[in-house]
Amino acid sequence: MTTNVCVFENWHFAYFRYKARYVMRTFLPQKQHQIPEFDANIAGGTQVGKRTVDISGKMKVLRKLADESENPDGTHSIILQHILPTTIEYIDIVNSVYPVDLVISIVYSNDQPTVDALRAKGYEVIVPNSIEYMKEELWKDVLRVLDGASHPVVFQEVGGYMSKWTKQLSQYEGFKGCVEDTKNGLWRYQEAEKNGDIHLPVLSMADTALKRVEDSLIGDACVYSLEKVLRTQLASILDGLRCGVIGWGNIGKSCATAIEGRNSVVSVYDINPVVNMLGYGRGFYPMPLAQLLAESDVVMGCSGRRSIRTADIHDIKNGALLCSASSKDIEIDLKGFSQLCEIEDITPQGDDLCPIEKYTVKKTGKVFYILKHGTPIDFLDMPLQGAILDCTFSELFVCMRELSKNPHSPGVIELADALQIEVAKLWLPTYVETFSTHEATKDKTFFFPESWYWE
Ligand SMILES: NC(=O)c1ccc[n+]([C@@H]2O[C@H](COP(=O)([O-])OP(=O)(O)OC[C@H]3O[C@@H](n4cnc5c(N)ncnc54)[C@H](O)[C@@H]3O)[C@@H](O)[C@H]2O)c1
Repeated sequence: MTTNVCVFENWHFAYFRYKARYVMRTFLPQKQHQIPEFDANIAGGTQVGKRTVDISGKMKVLRKLADESENPDGTHSIILQHILPTTIEYIDIVNSVYPVDLVISIVYSNDQPTVDALRAKGYEVIVPNSIEYMKEELWKDVLRVLDGASHPVVFQEVGGYMSKWTKQLSQYEGFKGCVEDTKNGLWRYQEAEKNGDIHLPVLSMADTALKRVEDSLIGDACVYSLEKVLRTQLASILDGLRCGVIGWGNIGKSCATAIEGRNSVVSVYDINPVVNMLGYGRGFYPMPLAQLLAESDVVMGCSGRRSIRTADIHDIKNGALLCSASSKDIEIDLKGFSQLCEIEDITPQGDDLCPIEKYTVKKTGKVFYILKHGTPIDFLDMPLQGAILDCTFSELFVCMRELSKNPHSPGVIELADALQIEVAKLWLPTYVETFSTHEATKDKTFFFPESWYWE
């Protein structure tokens, strides 16, 4: 009997091996590696502070788009971004079409050597000193740059920092509008619109299908950074820990999947009951927030809202580690916590380390830890890279090109499908070998959406 089972299993495996080889032969191009994955400057790289990083020639699709773009009315740009080594090429390419009048670095994702490198190239770069300043005062710095300028300007940002100030910015005649990259920023502009307080066109890519490509990889980036902190600063690993993900949207799904991939037991909580049901269906064991906080060794906030309030402090497990994968410092009410806790900075000495604070609840003596002041953990490292970063930057560029080229009424609008598809049609043959052959150019995907109706 045992022999029979073995024979059957061996036959089974042999059959699948044969099938797999057949499938590989049929569908993979005969000649592999036509597009080299690493083709630039690995040995030399570019010196950014103490690091040497291969950051040149990565933005291939963005470069193509820029080379094809014209700027007949001399529109300039202002860029508010995560200033990391990988942002340098983006700024250079945008600058080649829409001269960059000002770069603003997001305070929690600022890499000072990159700021120095940009300044050395001649860009004016502002590094605000707090998120509060960015929300309340930064618009005045933007106005200062606009003042006296005689050219039109588009503003590209991440986080809705200009959402309360569109009236002031609209006073400048040449201001063509804002491009918004992320959900949290989109929500801030939508709120302004709901209050009847939006005075400029805001072109958003935050909710586009193309942006979902990036979102699906953010979880990996967040877990990479979290794991690095655990391994290098806390001599610990994720495997076997109980982890809680709050907010199971695009980023939450991506984080939960990545954490699960590290052999952790993952539970989720979402404020929307339907989303909890969806999480259940995917095996993520949803539970009430109080239970999730009480049982999780690691909690990752992914909602983009205030998901852990002061009222929740007593539910947090003793010794838990709390971090964010979303935006700004919104996820955890650290101001509220500071009223109830002693806070000790326990970040070790050294370069490029994650800030760690130990919170001790005064009344009970319970402790928990906050990573990176509750700001998104993935910005400790360069979260987006290569082909996917090229996709995001290309989409941003197309948004800027659209605002620069075509007049739009004040209000929030989404990047049209046709313009997202334009980026995808350039991206696919650039990065996916199977779509790069002459034969593949005849595929229906390159004629989408018209090909949808082909019989
Ligand atoms: N860290 C990064 O690199 C990065 C990258 C992209 C986006 N983001 C940010 O991540 C955040 C989430 O974006 P998304 O695309 O996943 O949004 P989403 O709308 O797809 O998902 C948010 C989810 O959180 C839930 N939620 C809202 N409030 C909640 C609360 N108080 N408690 C529990 N659940 C709550 C919502 O029901 C929703 O399911 C945004 O702030 C976005 O800007 C971060």
